[in-house]
Amino acid sequence: PSHLTVRNGRLAIGGHDTVELAKAYGTPLYVTDEDRIRENYRRLADALGGYYDRIQVLYAAKANGNLALFRIFADLNAGADVFSAGELSLALSAGMNPGLLLFNGSSKSAADLALAVEKGVRVSVDSLDELRQLNAAAEAAGKTVEIAFRVNPALEVPTHPKIATGLATSKFGIPAGQILDAYREALACSNIEPVGIHCHIGSQILEVEPFAREMEVVIDLARELSKMGVTLKFIDIGGGLGVPYHRETDHAPTPQDYADAVMPIFLAGIRDIGIQPELWVEPGRSLVADSTILLTRINSIKEAHKTFANVDAGFNLLVRPAMYDSYHTVVAANKADAPPEREYTIAGPICETGDLLAKDRMLPTLTAGDLIAVLDTGAYGFAMSSQYNSRPRSAEVIVRGSEATLMRRAESIDDLTAPMQRPAWQQ
Ligand code: LLP
Repeated sequence: PSHLTVRNGRLAIGGHDTVELAKAYGTPLYVTDEDRIRENYRRLADALGGYYDRIQVLYAAKANGNLALFRIFADLNAGADVFSAGELSLALSAGMNPGLLLFNGSSKSAADLALAVEKGVRVSVDSLDELRQLNAAAEAAGKTVEIAFRVNPALEVPTHPKIATGLATSKFGIPAGQILDAYREALACSNIEPVGIHCHIGSQILEVEPFAREMEVVIDLARELSKMGVTLKFIDIGGGLGVPYHRETDHAPTPQDYADAVMPIFLAGIRDIGIQPELWVEPGRSLVADSTILLTRINSIKEAHKTFANVDAGFNLLVRPAMYDSYHTVVAANKADAPPEREYTIAGPICETGDLLAKDRMLPTLTAGDLIAVLDTGAYGFAMSSQYNSRPRSAEVIVRGSEATLMRRAESIDDLTAPMQRPAWQQ
């Protein structure tokens, strides 16, 4: 993509030389291009908006929870899918419109529900038990809470089984057979107003047909609900659009392909039913994945049964390859136009065999000190990082036009120990 270029043999992101960024901020280092996020958002909003003017994009904040990203999406007038009290609080502190937040989750605590009531945000309710608890919390506060139910569409989707969320067997959502009764009960609740439908079928989906089938499920439900007297203010079809991690071979649907698959079904459905709800989507990955690279320095090269390039970032900073066998393109950032010559496995510093960022990749001949860029790490990258092996997390830099700045400083050894407490008997 256009924000990644090669200048003087070095990879640049948003025009910023990665070798210079690594020198200025140290490695490992996440670097995010704000303009790319804005472009990704615009493409999706335009594609959907071309069909219908009542669309709303809610950024799935779990993909990347830095406050700077919340602020970008606030500036774009996006809302957010928030899945925890933390995400809700960050969204509000970044100035996002509470009316455009949906508090999601299959296991909300009493404190979560109380916070949702207090902040006046809409809630995606995932069970009847939760509905009753939320009603009680709203009643105690003397407020009415607008809700959607998360419906389980019982759809098989082509993705990694750990991130397919709409299977009949998955933990999310209310089964189709119970959903009408759930809305009926919600209508009868003193302090609940059911106003939406929420659905999400999974993540990293590289075909549009599953989204079309999902839309059919929610439209069928909308028809039943409007007969039942539910006034639908929004239909939220979740996120899930995949990105081409295999940059050479994956064919990811464009936002236009996605819109072309779902919008005609949506429009025909609502026209037929005679309603005009907002259409909400909740993308995470497709908005932010390709905006970000992870820069990591080679500590050493080892010739063994294969050739390992041992780098300073591992699954502490990018768990996707270890957790889902995910593929990320890697580039020799300081030798970006040198021809591929040798096969390398890029190995992290963590004390586990599975700590490999990339396997068997043809790259230019590498030596200690060279800089590797792991691409498409803006979604579920830093967000899933940890301090495993007592490794402080890296810094995150954001660039916009000619400017570059930290959006999170690197953690220090002191940051590791700060929350720890000495047991009294060890004084
Ligand atoms: N809405 C809901 C209710 C979700 O559960 C998710 C993702 C999204 C929206 C955003 O989906 P996206 O557009 O990003 O596909 N850590 C995994 C992905 C987990 C996704 C969880 N839910 C990974 O690294 O692949």
